[in-house]
Amino acid sequence: MRLKDRAAIVTGAASGIGRASAQLFAEEGALVLAVDVPTSQIMTAHDGVAGVTPLALSIADEGAPARIVGEAVAKFGRLDILFNNAGVSGRHFVEEMTDEQWERIMAVNVTAQMKLARAAIPHLKASPAARIINTASVMAEGTDLGLAAYCASKAGVAGLTRTLALELGRYNITANYLLPGAIETGMTKPLWDVRPDVADIWSKKSPLRRLGQPIDLARAALFLASDEASFITGHGLNVDGGLMLRV
Ligand SMILES: NC(=O)c1ccc[n+]([C@@H]2O[C@H](COP(=O)([O-])OP(=O)(O)OC[C@H]3O[C@@H](n4cnc5c(N)ncnc54)[C@H](O)[C@@H]3O)[C@@H](O)[C@H]2O)c1
Repeated sequence: MRLKDRAAIVTGAASGIGRASAQLFAEEGALVLAVDVPTSQIMTAHDGVAGVTPLALSIADEGAPARIVGEAVAKFGRLDILFNNAGVSGRHFVEEMTDEQWERIMAVNVTAQMKLARAAIPHLKASPAARIINTASVMAEGTDLGLAAYCASKAGVAGLTRTLALELGRYNITANYLLPGAIETGMTKPLWDVRPDVADIWSKKSPLRRLGQPIDLARAALFLASDEASFITGHGLNVDGGLMLRV
């Protein structure tokens, strides 16, 4: 029970890393507001899991951050953990990229994280062990063809999180970010199912010779959310099976 009675928000909680994290946090005693878009499986993804309350709402909607934080505080009476995990990808070469494609990725991946943090901070200040955990990507540091918006957004997450850590340390609020490698989730599986050769390449890039699973990230998020991580802030934690060791 490493998160006993802590109140948490987890975004992108219908699938992949967010889903596994919401459930692991709840197993460890947290009360979790699990947020995902209305078109997702969020209203059923946590059926039968005690401690998880679903909320179907896009984090990028006008007014969503205030509503999400408001719902968590109204339901749990407090807020201790904000896990900003929802994210979208997209492959667009810069020469052909539309403003809408760029702005959608930035809006979900980085702007919404800032707005959710901004809405959460007044409540986190009242927590004895407040945590902000943001999901970035190894693509905050690496890149690939067509990933300009995604890489820029994830580098933005790193910069945002380090600055949050600097600004919020005096309130005993930590802020850290995860850099997942190649993880089998709703974001990657549709491609890897039809292109097992691509999945194979990614798994072999890791010295551990496997793809990551959502639980690998959930355990890292749990550590950062727990009391064990109380002196860690402004840190980017690679959870990538060593993918980034070799260039
Ligand atoms: N899978 C990987 O290999 C990988 C690698 C590096 C980073 N990541 C990051 O991990 C995070 C989680 O992704 P995942 O891999 O679990 O993928 P996923 O697609 O399984 O889960 C992402 C969830 O975010 C939700 N989401 C998207 N836009 C949203 C919005 N506007 N409001 C609320 N929810 C929204 C989706 O509906 C989905 O349920 C993302 O930030 C992603 O960029 C994933």
